[in-house]
Amino acid sequence: MTDFNPEVPYNDLPSLPPAGDQIETTQILKSCIKSRVALAELKQAAELIPNSAVLVNALPLLEARASSEIENIVTTTDKLFEFADIAEDRADAATKEALRYRTALYEGSKMVQRRMLSTDMAIQICSTIKGLELDIRAESGTTLKNRVSGETIYTPPVGQQLLMDKLDNWADFMHDDSDIDPLVRMAVQHYQFEAIHPFSDGNGRTGRILNILFLVQHGLLDSPILYLSRYIIQNKAAYYRLLSKVTQEQDWASWILFILDGVEETCTWTTDKIKSIRELMEHTGQFVQKQLPKIYTWELVELLFKQPYCRIGNLVDNGIAKRQTASVYLKQLCDLGILREVKSGRENIFVHPKYIELLSGEENVWVYYAGVETETAVEAELAS
Ligand SMILES: Nc1ncnc2c1ncn2[C@@H]1O[C@H](COP(=O)(O)OP(=O)(O)OP(=O)(O)O)[C@@H](O)[C@H]1O
Ligand SMILES: [Mg+2]
Repeated sequence: MTDFNPEVPYNDLPSLPPAGDQIETTQILKSCIKSRVALAELKQAAELIPNSAVLVNALPLLEARASSEIENIVTTTDKLFEFADIAEDRADAATKEALRYRTALYEGSKMVQRRMLSTDMAIQICSTIKGLELDIRAESGTTLKNRVSGETIYTPPVGQQLLMDKLDNWADFMHDDSDIDPLVRMAVQHYQFEAIHPFSDGNGRTGRILNILFLVQHGLLDSPILYLSRYIIQNKAAYYRLLSKVTQEQDWASWILFILDGVEETCTWTTDKIKSIRELMEHTGQFVQKQLPKIYTWELVELLFKQPYCRIGNLVDNGIAKRQTASVYLKQLCDLGILREVKSGRENIFVHPKYIELLSGEENVWVYYAGVETETAVEAELAS
């Protein structure tokens, strides 16, 4: 259709909005409605867990792991939790990079409370991910290659000023074309950001963070808890293929539908995960209350879910107990089988295996602690 050549910098990348009437077909609008419903359910599910730190600590780490893995930076949920917030400097390179992704997502979600998404924010996000002060690409030579065959798939535009102009148009589109559904706008801007490819590396991850921030900015999410990279990594071939199809055939509809499906599927998955976390919290609470009534408080149980790798200091900082008592509490929780003491560097920390398994698993199954089989509030709600 066009004379697009993957080897030549695509300086003719068209400005937004996309030409034609492809971006709001009946099918797209129907799909938008489904995704909006799923987002609303996710927002509601998040309210099941009143302490927002539980979800905001856990879900962005899952997102960071998957989004970094798309780039072949492979780490585990376990390692992320072990090193998060406390011993980041001791982590291996891949874990550090995924933790920086998480940090960028946090920082970004604070920024969008105060100002609109912009080129400057994208620069800041990419700098945080890469751990370097970056600027918009000035040099040429950035290309996207097929990892297996080595063939060039796409060569982004070149020229710093041209990139800045295209980014201005990208930012304007995100804020100004408000008669277009925000989810459609999110999909369109994600393609455009990747096609501009403003940095020499980190564009995919920066773009995926921007998607989540866009939803937060538009009030479709309260906090950055959507785990959209799960869908993208599971459908990576389609992700790459459909980005290319926009460039080569201006096939916006397939791309937008792909992203809308992703939002819906991920929301449903994340909502189910949150409900399971809530159930496990309640069940664990009942178990501790029954077995260790002297030490039980809801704050203690909540802490085990805020910090799946727990230190004595966490109990002290949260006002649950003084050092000595805190250590006794954690040992008793180990004796009960809720926590396990492990060595991390020079200190001993306490891991919460059932919770880590629930977070890292695809499925939401977990085994009850013996002797506490009462129906939880969430189960009762689900059954009704
Ligand atoms: N044909 C294409 N046209 C435009 N953008 C593309 C195309 N194929 C892939 N991309 C985008 O480019 C990203 C890769 O770019 P880059 O290496 O700069 O990002 P990254 O964050 O380091 O890597 P990754 O996205 O693989 O994690 C992909 O994730 C995708 O978003
Ligand atoms: Mg890369």
